Amino acid sequence: MPLAGCAAPGSTLDPHSRAARDVSTLFWWMLLAAAVVFAGTVAWLALAFVRRRRPGLPVVGESERANRGLVLVFGVAIPVVALIAVFAVANFVVASRTDGSPLPARTLTVDVTGRQWWWDVSYPGTGVVTANELHIPVGTRVRVVVRSADVIHSFWIPKLNRKVDMVPGKVNRVTLEADRPGRYQGQCAEFCGVQHARMRLAVVAEPQASFDAWMKATAADRSPPTGALARTGERVFMGNACASCHQIRGTRASGRIGPDLTHLMRRASLAALTIPNTRGELDRWIRDPQHVKPGNRMPGLDLSDADYDALLAYLRGLR
Ligand code: CUA
Repeated sequence: MPLAGCAAPGSTLDPHSRAARDVSTLFWWMLLAAAVVFAGTVAWLALAFVRRRRPGLPVVGESERANRGLVLVFGVAIPVVALIAVFAVANFVVASRTDGSPLPARTLTVDVTGRQWWWDVSYPGTGVVTANELHIPVGTRVRVVVRSADVIHSFWIPKLNRKVDMVPGKVNRVTLEADRPGRYQGQCAEFCGVQHARMRLAVVAEPQASFDAWMKATAADRSPPTGALARTGERVFMGNACASCHQIRGTRASGRIGPDLTHLMRRASLAALTIPNTRGELDRWIRDPQHVKPGNRMPGLDLSDADYDALLAYLRGLR
């Protein structure tokens, strides 16, 4: 099942943007050319086997000149032409068409920073900070500016565009543009440590009006906790290590080591798409983060059951 790894949701062969279509068209043409060469090679081998008792090569016989011609055509001319064609198409056509630089009027910029092992997402000039799930409006060219805070990662949304490496000390760009609404899955595409495989992200492409509503809600400070349990939970959060690693806008928690939690409940997943953002999974995650995703930077806290319950109530209120 060589194509099993390409099945939805993160398939390069199911493009939803012009750039991704270019990448997948290049793939199909290369596959077709490779299939022709493979079929030709197998045919020659079969012919050689069938005529193995005759002297000389099949078809051309013992003629020295014909033999040399055969080697030059199949060993030199065809490979040179094929490789030059692939090089030219890939580097001068597909690479420039999937490039992150030229942008027409309707654009949006999103900054994404790769960290071990999650994605820090912000929309410059808007106050919107989130993690692992970035929203874009459908039909708009979105400039994604990528950086790394630690090691080399690679930002890749297979259905929308090619990969772009996130290299420490360097700024790279890629353009995302979705044809239709949807949730597009992405994956870190450069080995970056033990949880590289659990460094996934999602791009939510939605109509302009819902995107605007999401931006407005996400730019706001957290809504104050309601209920005694959630208020206790906020005190537990601020009084423990949580506040030094996470930011919750509207409180004094301003840590930037872990994801911004201001609107945690607007995200569909936790731990970079490792688990769904349900009550049960969030509870399990805060009580024992190293079990779900071993090696991540979140330490287990030694809190009482009552404090964990309060913390959960508080986090569940961050909408
Ligand atoms: Cu980040 Cu692999």
